[in-house]
Amino acid sequence: MLTKKEKKLLIEKALEARKNSYSPYSNFAVGAALLTEDGEIFLGANVENASLGLTICAERSAIFSAVSYGKRKFKAIAIAGSQESPTPPCGACRQVMTEFGEFAVILVGQNEILETSVSELLPLQFDLKGE
Ligand code: THU
Repeated sequence: MLTKKEKKLLIEKALEARKNSYSPYSNFAVGAALLTEDGEIFLGANVENASLGLTICAERSAIFSAVSYGKRKFKAIAIAGSQESPTPPCGACRQVMTEFGEFAVILVGQNEILETSVSELLPLQFDLKGE
C-alpha cells in the first residue's frame, strides 16, 4: 500500500522532474517520479528531438532509468503533465509499465489528482511471458 506521505512526496518529485523536460517542439512538459519497492525514487522527463519520433515520454524515461540501475519492482509512479486535468499516459508507456507488473499510477493535473493502476490503464496487455 502506498502511504499518504509517499504519495505526497512522489507528486512533489514528479513536479520537480517536470522542470527538466526538454520539450521545445510541443511545449508540453511532463515529469515522472517512480517509487521502487525498496524505497528509491527515479525521476524522468520527456525529452524531445528534432526528429520527432525519437521523443521519449517522461514515464518511460523514469522506468528505463530505474531498470538501468537494477530495479524492477515498483510501488507507484506519479506523472505530472501540463494540463489542468491529469494527463493520461500514452499507449506506449502503458505497455512499458505492464512489463513490470502491477503498481499505482498517480496522474497529477494542476487542478486534479487521479489515482489509478497499471492494470486499470491497460487491461489485456501484450505479454510474451505466457501463463
Ligand atoms: N508525453 C509524455 O511525456 N508522456 C505521455 O504519456 C504523453 C506524452 C510527452 C511526449 C511529448 O514530448 C509531449 O508529451 C507531447 O506529446
